[in-house]
Amino acid sequence: MLQLDGVSKNFGGLPALQSVTFGVPKGRLTALIGPNGAGKSTLINCVTGLLPPTSGSVHFESVDISGLPAHRIAHLGITRTFQNLRLFPRLSVLDNVLTGLTCEGGTSMCMAMLRLPVLRHRERQLRLRALEAMDRFGLSDKAGWPAAVLAYGDKKRVELARATVGNPRLLLLDEPVAGLNAEETASVGEQLRTLRRAGQTILLIEHDMDLVMNIADHVVVLDSGQCIATGTPDEVRRNPLVLEAYLGRMEATA
Ligand SMILES: Nc1ncnc2c1ncn2[C@@H]1O[C@H](COP(=O)(O)OP(=O)(O)O)[C@@H](O)[C@H]1O
Ligand SMILES: [Mg+2]
Repeated sequence: MLQLDGVSKNFGGLPALQSVTFGVPKGRLTALIGPNGAGKSTLINCVTGLLPPTSGSVHFESVDISGLPAHRIAHLGITRTFQNLRLFPRLSVLDNVLTGLTCEGGTSMCMAMLRLPVLRHRERQLRLRALEAMDRFGLSDKAGWPAAVLAYGDKKRVELARATVGNPRLLLLDEPVAGLNAEETASVGEQLRTLRRAGQTILLIEHDMDLVMNIADHVVVLDSGQCIATGTPDEVRRNPLVLEAYLGRMEATA
C-alpha cells in the first residue's frame, strides 16, 4: 500500500535518512523501530508531506506522493498521530476529534450560512462518528472538556481518536504509548489490536518492544537513518545486526 524507494532527507547537510527502501502491506501492522535519533519521525514527516524528502520516492497505492503538500496527502486517506502532541488546547475533546473529519466536510461558506437542513443532518452524522471514536478510546465522559486540561494519557488518546475517526486508508502512529503507564499502554495496545483485526493498515513507531513483538506482522529497523533489517518480529529479534545496533545499545544504556 505504501512504498518508499531510496528516501533520503538531509538537514543542513546532515543526513537523517539515507536511501530508505521498504513497503507497508495493506491490512497489516508494520512496526518501525530504532534507537532515538534513528530518523523514524523524520520518515513519517516525509510520508505525510510535513517535510519534502531530499531524494527518493514515496508511492501510496501506486500514486507518487513524494513532495506533495500535507493536505493533499491527508485527502488521499493517510492520517497520523504526533510523538509530541498536537492538539488544539482550547477546543473541546469533541471538537478536536471532529477536526479529524474535516476532509469530509465539503461545505461551502454560503451553504453553511444558509443552515440548510441537509447540512444539519450531516453535522449530526459527523458528531455521531466523533462520539463513537471517543467511545472507543474511553473519552466519552470528557467530550466537553478543553483538551488543555486533560491528563497526558487522555491527550494521547484524543490524538488516536482524531486519527482514526475518518477510517483512514493508512494510519501512521508515532510512539502512541510513550509516556503512558502500564495499564494505559495495555489498553491502547488492545485498541491497536482491534484496529488491526478490523483490517486497518498501520505503520507503528514504537519503543515498547513487548508491544511491538506482540502485535506487529512486520518489523522495519532503522539505525542512523538507514534501514538495517526487515522481517517478522521473530526474524528481526534474531538478526545479529539488530541485536548489535539496537538491542545491544539499549542494554548498554539501560
Ligand atoms: N526539523 C529538523 N531539523 C534539523 N534536524 C532534525 C529535524 N528533525 C529531526 N532532525 C534530526 O534528524 C535526526 C533524526 O531525528 P528523528 O527523526 O526525530 O529520530 P527518531 O524519531 O527516530 O528519534 C536527529 O539527528 C534529529 O536531530
Ligand atoms: Mg521520533
